[in-house]
Amino acid sequence: MKRFIFTNLWIFLICFMGQFSFAQNNIVWKKLSRSEDTRPAFKQAQAPFYHGVASGDPTQNSVIIWTRVTPELNEESIDVKWYIATDTSFLNMVASGTFTTDASRDYTVKVDVSGLEPQNTYFYVFLANGKYSPVGRTRTAATDSEHLRFGIVSCANYQHGYFNSYKRLAERNDLDAIIHLGDYIYEYEEFADATRPDLLPQNEIIALGDYRMRHSYYKLDPDLQALHQMYPFITIWDDHETANDSYKDGAENHDPATEGDWETRKNNGKTAYFEWMPIRDNADKRIYRTISYGNLAELIMLDTRLEGREKQIESIDEPAYTDPNRTIMGDEQDAWFREQITNSSAQWKLIGNQVIFSPLNLAQLIPVNAGALTILADIWEGYPAERNNLIQFIKNNDIANVVFLTGDIHATFAFDIYDTDSTATAYNPETGEGSVAVEMVTPSISSDNFDEYLGASNASILQGVLEFYNNNIKKINFVEHGYYVLDITPEKVQGDWYFDSNRLIHNDIENYVGSVYANNNAPHLIESESEASGKPVGEIPPPTNDPTIIEVGLEANEVLPQNMLLLNAYPNPTANQTLTLNIALDRPQTLQLQLIDMQGKVLLQQKNQNLSSGIFGIRLNVNSFPAGNYIINLRNNFAQEINIPVQIVK
Ligand SMILES: [Fe+2]
Repeated sequence: MKRFIFTNLWIFLICFMGQFSFAQNNIVWKKLSRSEDTRPAFKQAQAPFYHGVASGDPTQNSVIIWTRVTPELNEESIDVKWYIATDTSFLNMVASGTFTTDASRDYTVKVDVSGLEPQNTYFYVFLANGKYSPVGRTRTAATDSEHLRFGIVSCANYQHGYFNSYKRLAERNDLDAIIHLGDYIYEYEEFADATRPDLLPQNEIIALGDYRMRHSYYKLDPDLQALHQMYPFITIWDDHETANDSYKDGAENHDPATEGDWETRKNNGKTAYFEWMPIRDNADKRIYRTISYGNLAELIMLDTRLEGREKQIESIDEPAYTDPNRTIMGDEQDAWFREQITNSSAQWKLIGNQVIFSPLNLAQLIPVNAGALTILADIWEGYPAERNNLIQFIKNNDIANVVFLTGDIHATFAFDIYDTDSTATAYNPETGEGSVAVEMVTPSISSDNFDEYLGASNASILQGVLEFYNNNIKKINFVEHGYYVLDITPEKVQGDWYFDSNRLIHNDIENYVGSVYANNNAPHLIESESEASGKPVGEIPPPTNDPTIIEVGLEANEVLPQNMLLLNAYPNPTANQTLTLNIALDRPQTLQLQLIDMQGKVLLQQKNQNLSSGIFGIRLNVNSFPAGNYIINLRNNFAQEINIPVQIVK
């Protein structure tokens, strides 16, 4: 999805210094969270599991459970115990074990718990350094089901607004899993006009340490934590988990001249993703996979970004546009996908996919609206041969009940998918004749929509023009943020849309705004104004036995085992001229910082920094110091001391 607004960190820093920063010598201090905005917060009561818990990739007898331990200083490896039970009190324990984590995986913990029962709810918890994590709830996949229900989400730009919709989904009790279609994080630097400021890291993320820290920052969001705590996630990345409009060999927002080798950056993004997301590991860091929910549904998750996508076109006059061999998935994945939908014995084939798949007439708009090319180039419409071949494959093989689930575009759409070949049965929008599959596109959780970067009237015009030229559009909304719930029964598959009342403030008001559904063996969408009928959920309690997990709005400093916590020191070793420290303070305090060489000589010193509570970034310019080993000593007025070994390389 196209990038929108960005700003230069250093300009921001300079402008900001007067209020929150203290420039002296070679050290810049900047407050990264404000007292009036404690979100996201390092909740001390949750230590050392500040990033919460998560689960994902359920099978019928296993599930991934995940957490992250923030290490104590100089703690090299940590043994983390895990427990999983069928009840919230852990009286009916079904499995337990120990996982050892360390810096090589950024202190993340991921366990593939096996031996579980299908379609069953489980509770899990971690223990490290004598402290328990929040309790998570998860659910295995079904073998034999009459009713499944998923929350479908994508595109949560932290800087653009609050994750209210994540919290609304967490409050439901009727879902089997959350399907996240990508843009879970965004790679951009801090925006000057961010709705939620104080991003970490402040720079655009490129190095592995950057990607890790961005994942860390997002997972401190209490609404995202709450959703992970309640449901397993089934995730795929889109472009922003690496860089905007990425493809196999590059990205729109990647300049090799200034940002280095793309393969390195792409691998950094993938590595951090597999560390920080509850996705099942594999040696190739591939995300395309199937997840079976038995007779009723199979999820086929695609990677249309990094696996095999060729570069986006820059003009529809390029020969590449009509090249019959051009690919968005890569030949290997394309062949795998055809095999999966052919051989699936499930009634509903649900395709988890990043970008719009359906035929969307955009080419004729390009002469009057350059933005149409930007949209076209990045979706399946920009790879028409492969897309049209797949539509014909579905049609010619009589593959029934194919439903594409899509994100990326920051808008609501629902489409009938018809064969674009001129010799095919003409598509009839009234009866649905000629449609071979359907697609439901989820809006963004918080990322800017068309109206927010084109202006309301331009977005309205674009929406109207698209509707005029595309009679297969069954639902469209360019303005609202939120999600849809996918309800699946043997009779039909239905999407119910819910919109957040205002992403710009933290709120708990959402509105149901309508539905579409397709009946069994009738692959076209019908509008509805009523939600799918209730799904029996039985007795599925939330994991409420631990008070730390209930009130995400709790103040961070209610429990005070620690006054000053080092979150990160990077890059370390550093060949850069700037070394960044991030620290969390749970109460106002006075800090002193010293840079000391191995002979004990103080090379740099700053005293009497009076800081409020919150998260701070400290930037040290170390350019003038020779290569070697040093200690950064941080001391506060509570006699707490942190010594951070750092290495400067030249
Ligand atoms: Fe997005």
